[in-house]
Amino acid sequence: MTEHDLIVIGAGPGGYVAAIRAAQLGLNVACIEAEPALGGTCLRIGCIPSKVLLEASERFHEASHSLASFGVVVPSVGLDLPTMMKRKESVVNSLTQGVAFLFKKNKVTHYRGWGQIAAPGRVVVEQQSGDGLELSARAILIATGSSPATLPGVEFDGDRVGSSTEALSYPEVPEHLVVIGAGYIGLEMGSVWARLGAKVTVLEYLDRILPGMDAELAQEAKKVFEKQGIVFQLGSKVTAAHATKAGPTKTGARVEIAGQPAIECDRVLVSVGRVPNTRDLGLEALGVELGPRGFIPVNEHFETQVAGVFAIGDVIGGAMLAHKAEEEGVACVEHMVTGYGHVNYAAIPGVVYTHPEIASVGQNEEQLKAAGVSYKKGVFPFVANGRAKALGSTEGRVKILAHAETDRVLGVHIIGPRAGDLIAEAAAAIEFGASSEDIARTCHAHPTLAEVVKEAALAVDGRALHI
Ligand code: NAI
Repeated sequence: MTEHDLIVIGAGPGGYVAAIRAAQLGLNVACIEAEPALGGTCLRIGCIPSKVLLEASERFHEASHSLASFGVVVPSVGLDLPTMMKRKESVVNSLTQGVAFLFKKNKVTHYRGWGQIAAPGRVVVEQQSGDGLELSARAILIATGSSPATLPGVEFDGDRVGSSTEALSYPEVPEHLVVIGAGYIGLEMGSVWARLGAKVTVLEYLDRILPGMDAELAQEAKKVFEKQGIVFQLGSKVTAAHATKAGPTKTGARVEIAGQPAIECDRVLVSVGRVPNTRDLGLEALGVELGPRGFIPVNEHFETQVAGVFAIGDVIGGAMLAHKAEEEGVACVEHMVTGYGHVNYAAIPGVVYTHPEIASVGQNEEQLKAAGVSYKKGVFPFVANGRAKALGSTEGRVKILAHAETDRVLGVHIIGPRAGDLIAEAAAAIEFGASSEDIARTCHAHPTLAEVVKEAALAVDGRALHI
């Protein structure tokens, strides 16, 4: 039996970051990963490849539709999908290899195989060869992430009907792609294929898109996406979806919707959320009882009901975001070693990497109203910003919500160019307990998109300068 101080199961952003931080703090760390590449869903089949395709498809779309207005004449624009996909793979490979490098640098021992907790302090790694390895440690950290959820009646076939994993690698641009679920994945991957020429229909169960996001922003986002050609059918309950065949060949798919005509299409992307990966970890025998919706319950130090067994990231619920998992991983191992470690859940940004991007941190108007908190609101549009005009990207706005009496920033919601980068200032403001006045009095470089954040902060007090 090989001994370590800490065994991390799963090398996604939660697990690998926790492993590195624990090693920095002097622990002898092992990290078990079943996949050949490190980095988890985020690096291999999630955040990173989707961003590569979003970037590439946006450039294609720009070259086809808007470069001419910049005075850049591109006589003929063509799509080379295999090269686009190859570039995606090469970015993913360099990053997953980067994690392997970081493990070596920090002396984290990487075991390839399936990790199962045999008892508190003991993990068995089933290797590809079939051999089992036994490891022991004072602490075990479960960071196994999540998998795409499905719906009753929807038959995933790994080809015509699938999840984001398939949508990251379609071999050709579908003529008609039906997306089930207007959340993060549906909108990002729907945007990719729409820009590359697919007709995209998004079916959403609710009467709005992006549930959880500020409603006003979500409404604006819907209008922008509709202008881009994406069709939304809200209030649509999908009852079945399956691949269709002509002879032995799969030719497309059919989606059935309660009370509405069925849709025949080429491909279906199911993006209706994700479920925690808790199977085959030995949890039941260990005595870890799962909570509602299958998440692993933990205390404020991320310890499960079983002493010495911890869990972080998607598997414990909350926002299923890579950066939230990272924060939890760091806080968990810092607490183990130093006795301190915390995550400020009020300051975790969320970003949808569409064009324009949509980003948000803190509370939205609906949440503040429901909690009876009185607030002031400052809004400033990108159309009044010089840099946005130069970029040719003037859609959207920044909205800052601040406490009516104390002026403390409670939430910031942005739809607009580079919203995902701009939200960092807002997250820092919330982390520091800043007021909107603090943002308004901070000098922002001119001409930058960040000036829209400053102007929205000025607008909280009714003194925006450029509108
Ligand atoms: P999501 O939770 O963002 O959205 C799922 C959508 O599906 C919701 O709008 C929901 O109302 C709808 N839905 C549920 N059942 C339905 C039904 N029967 N028929 C029609 N619509 C239905 O989930 P998504 O997009 O699958 O993403 C999964 C997770 O991955 C999310 O928690 C998200 O945070 C994370 N993610 C984050 C990204 C980012 O940070 N940019 C990108 C991609 C995913």
